[in-house]
Amino acid sequence: MTAPVPGSAGYDTHASLLAQRYEALRFEDVHRHVLHLIPPQPCMAADIGAGSGRDAAALAARGHTVVAVEPTAALRAEGQRLHAGMPIEWTDDSLPALNRLREAARRFDLMLLSAVWMHLDEGERAEGMASLAELLAPGGVAILSLRHGPVPEGRRMFDVSAEETLVLGGRHGLQPCHRGTRQDMMGRPDVHWSLVGLRKPQ
Ligand SMILES: C[S@@+](CC[C@H](N)C(=O)[O-])C[C@H]1O[C@@H](n2cnc3c(N)ncnc32)[C@H](O)[C@@H]1O
Repeated sequence: MTAPVPGSAGYDTHASLLAQRYEALRFEDVHRHVLHLIPPQPCMAADIGAGSGRDAAALAARGHTVVAVEPTAALRAEGQRLHAGMPIEWTDDSLPALNRLREAARRFDLMLLSAVWMHLDEGERAEGMASLAELLAPGGVAILSLRHGPVPEGRRMFDVSAEETLVLGGRHGLQPCHRGTRQDMMGRPDVHWSLVGLRKPQ
């Protein structure tokens, strides 16, 4: 039996409902504070914890070559169905090790981790940051959003600060290029988000 993926608890039930919720949001709205970090020219992009593929599809539509990493089979299937027309490479891989991407020696100019990082515990975040630093191409950017608020039933989540994430990135040679906050896009009054950008030097 394969080991459960850290942080993915609760996503395999109601995958279709979750996908509907994620797809009701627009990439340009969710990521409006960090759009300036997305390379304007076609690049290699990875959407880690891609969920329904909303962001992967938007990045592909912008001309980027996109790998969507999603460990939850039911969500991956939703994403593949909903965005069947888009040139997205779907992969069953997971943080912290991202073994498939690392074994294939992939390198990315953009790594998006939207609403994923806070699913990892402290040790997993340390290992996960090492994976991101390895997978980023020189000059590449990782964008992470971190959820703050009550943990939904059945999920595994930690309150992870932007500060911790920036310090951890620094330990792996990644430089801060963005730090901000935003309200919850689903209108939950008790939830808010931190945004972090980390760049690998050229
Ligand atoms: C809140 S959803 C966000 C989905 C999408 N990124 C978005 O912003 O709409 C969190 C996603 O992270 C995935 N996930 C959870 N643990 C993960 C891990 N260890 N590695 C990669 N993805 C993970 C879940 O399966 C789920 O699709």
